[in-house]
Amino acid sequence: PAIAYGLEAPVAVEFHDSVGSTNDRARELAAEGATDVAVVADEQTDSRGRLDREWRSPRGGVWLSILVRPDVPPAHAPAFTLAAAVAVARACREAGVDARIKWPNDVVVGGRGARGGRKLCGILTEMEGEADRVSWLVVGIGLNANVDPDDLPGGTDATSLARELGRDVDRRVLTQRVLEEFDDLTADPDSVLPAWREHADTLGRRVRVETPGDVVEGIAEDVAFPGALLVDTDDGEVRVTTGDCEHLRPA
Ligand code: BTN
Repeated sequence: PAIAYGLEAPVAVEFHDSVGSTNDRARELAAEGATDVAVVADEQTDSRGRLDREWRSPRGGVWLSILVRPDVPPAHAPAFTLAAAVAVARACREAGVDARIKWPNDVVVGGRGARGGRKLCGILTEMEGEADRVSWLVVGIGLNANVDPDDLPGGTDATSLARELGRDVDRRVLTQRVLEEFDDLTADPDSVLPAWREHADTLGRRVRVETPGDVVEGIAEDVAFPGALLVDTDDGEVRVTTGDCEHLRPA
């Protein structure tokens, strides 16, 4: 059955058997003035990841974009991405997988190994805003539920819930739980960072973060609103707001 069958979500759900990208469809809906809609697809034919990276979306995954119009300044947008990562981590844990979050928003399993574990989920947030207020925000969630990781790019760095559990999961339940948790967390912005910390795999680890203009290496100490990573480096504490994070073995 279609993934959205019987979904009782806190937002309206638009289901597609196949679509280019749920993020692009959500952006179209935003342009039409819509809000509080989740776009769900069984398959995406033109999906994308962060930093214009390839993202493959075969059938069996949870490919989901949530369109909201929060009354916050654009600088607060990262908190929504963090909330989505927590929502996914919670839903995956309920499904029986020990999912943790690699800063800022990858959901991984087996992070104790080198380089930050096997990736279960990636999140791509897109936004349009004026100086003082977000106009719309699209949080795109790609969760490898019942897909074969061998069909995904990323080689041994990718995994899926089905691979971890040895059986398929119910994508309807998973999608519903993600939507509910995201709704709860974003309704109470103060809950996001404590919840993120609870599921974090990155904190306390030696990390190497490639930021747009720099490389920061040190111990990941904490996260700070709206989603920055505080890294204790040889030159003191550095606050990183965006970048790619790699977990290193302890020095
Ligand atoms: C990443 O880790 O680079 C982010 C991947 C985000 C993929 C999701 S799948 C649903 C939504 N639609 C897209 O085209 N991308 C996001």
